[in-house]
Amino acid sequence: MNTNIIAHRGASKYAPENTLPAFELAYQMKANGIETDVQLTKDNIPILIHDEKVNRTTNGTGYVKDLTYREIKVLDAGSWFSSDFTGTTILSLEEFLEWIRFKPLYLNIELKNNKIDYKHLESIVYENLMKYQLLDRTTLSTFNPSSVERLKPMNQSIGVAFLTSKKKSNLVSHAKKLGANALHIKYKLLNKALVEKCQQQKMPVRVYTINKEPSMKKCFSLNCDAIFTDVPDIALNYRNNFKH
Ligand code: G3P
Ligand code: MG
Repeated sequence: MNTNIIAHRGASKYAPENTLPAFELAYQMKANGIETDVQLTKDNIPILIHDEKVNRTTNGTGYVKDLTYREIKVLDAGSWFSSDFTGTTILSLEEFLEWIRFKPLYLNIELKNNKIDYKHLESIVYENLMKYQLLDRTTLSTFNPSSVERLKPMNQSIGVAFLTSKKKSNLVSHAKKLGANALHIKYKLLNKALVEKCQQQKMPVRVYTINKEPSMKKCFSLNCDAIFTDVPDIALNYRNNFKH
């Protein structure tokens, strides 16, 4: 089995995370998919951003939830990374779906609702995916167990992943009970027994964030379903020459 290479926030080592240049690069590098983070503006527009505040990745300040889409859209989301990307803007989920629609890429949309539990985020994202007919190649993931439970009614038509960085003895059955049909784990949790349990349960297991060859080696050797990486070019090259 070939482990899929998912560009984490796009090819985020080389371009500002969660922006079009980072996604374009990942596509050009031939990544298998793209992972991105979604939150809601004050006026309930889903946008792509990792942090709850715009401070780190834009020239603005404040919480996403306190800013309208219009206020967000004028921010510069590129200069913090490099002057080459000045003028890059935050994308709405719809802009991203328009872009990815006819490209052969998997989508992993991470609902960033573990610190702020945005009301209706699950259904807003789901409806957008339906509109763009992208359900069959999308996984929704979240660190928030209650959100996984809310996604449960949708998990017949879509991938729903429980995301975790916390050690837990019965992790696979816990995730299943919540309603997840996939498991996304931090690298430190990865071990053979866990992967085998996932495989027995037919539950894809994907690992973040894998940027170095020794950790890639472990993921590929264990036949993980996918890795999330900031350097899809390096991961693809390594995987394509990897011998079990
Ligand atoms: O979805 C995998 C990974 O992105 C989860 O952590 O903080 O990078 O969003 P984070
Ligand atoms: Mg993420």
